[in-house]
Amino acid sequence: MPVTRRCLIIGGAGFIGSHLTEFLIKKGDEVSVLDMLSSGAFRNVASFIDKSHFIRGDVSKAEFLEKCAKRIRPQVIFNLAATNLLGSMKDPRRDLMVTGIGTINVLEVARKSHFVERVVFASSGSVYGEARYSPQDEVHPLEPTSPYGATKLLAEKYFRVWKELYDVSYSSLRLYNVYGPRQDYSRQGGVIPIFISRMLKGQRPMIEGSGRQKRCFTHVTDVVRAFALAADHPQADGLMFNVASKEVCTVLDLADKLNSLLGTSIEPIFGPPRLGDIMDFRPDINLAEKKLGYEPKISLDEGLASTIDWLRKDEADGASSRRASRTS
Ligand SMILES: NC(=O)c1ccc[n+]([C@@H]2O[C@H](COP(=O)([O-])OP(=O)(O)OC[C@H]3O[C@@H](n4cnc5c(N)ncnc54)[C@H](O)[C@@H]3O)[C@@H](O)[C@H]2O)c1
Repeated sequence: MPVTRRCLIIGGAGFIGSHLTEFLIKKGDEVSVLDMLSSGAFRNVASFIDKSHFIRGDVSKAEFLEKCAKRIRPQVIFNLAATNLLGSMKDPRRDLMVTGIGTINVLEVARKSHFVERVVFASSGSVYGEARYSPQDEVHPLEPTSPYGATKLLAEKYFRVWKELYDVSYSSLRLYNVYGPRQDYSRQGGVIPIFISRMLKGQRPMIEGSGRQKRCFTHVTDVVRAFALAADHPQADGLMFNVASKEVCTVLDLADKLNSLLGTSIEPIFGPPRLGDIMDFRPDINLAEKKLGYEPKISLDEGLASTIDWLRKDEADGASSRRASRTS
């Protein structure tokens, strides 16, 4: 019998957050979403969440967050609010506000309240930086190469400290190249929907760097199950877990796979490497398998095919222009 809880998902109107919201609602949890809609959109959750369970606001505002938490009394808080790699380069102070101050605010709510049983944090494999060895396990040296990776690491350090000082229960998931429906396919978005969107129009996908970057692209459905496990599992408390698929693929391989799924033969073009990009980004997921019972289930071929279907529909609906306007 699955446990049902009151949950607050911060960043729940974003790509991963909206899937988590949908999953937990289907599971029977009472879910509230708090999101400032900087990159997310209410339409991502509109079909499964009532407006009364949606709060537009900023996690970096401490008093506001405390008021919301007192009203909702969540047993689990999922913190997925963040900028992204490019955003952190353009505005590192904003990145620190959202991830650093935002995390302190969430931890303070958990410390002061008697209702929060666990906080689950969306961290990133970018806390490791360039691989000293591969695949990287959770004890790999932590040397982030971007402000984004640095603030994710800072947030994890706060989690450890709040656990040590105040016994706040937490679990942190280090995610790797998540993809699937509802992912942004503007330049800020993920490589998979960006490539698909271009290739569907017969345009050449742009590879930043050599294309030999190694990735473990992970379907959002697998990630969402990991969040649910991290919230419920007694053994998840106080731990950081790599969460990814086990299939390794270079960006060049990705372009080939998409050509074969789309029945095209479009040659990629090459641009300068992305600043702060990591060449070898392959995690060891043994810890999540052993402690959480996590198992990635969606193969890359299957996940790419369903993402292509979604993107075809999304483009046909004209949602790309709505996405650009970012009104909710
Ligand atoms: N997508 C990936 O491949 C990936 C990889 C590693 C880690 N992550 C992490 O997973 C989380 C979700 O990522 P995503 O891909 O769904 O990104 P996303 O941009 O779609 O979602 C982030 C959400 O947070 C919201 N947000 C931003 N700042 C906020 C603030 N100050 N207060 C409240 N809400 C705010 C945004 O509006 C958005 O809805 C992020 O923390 C991200 O760093 C994602």
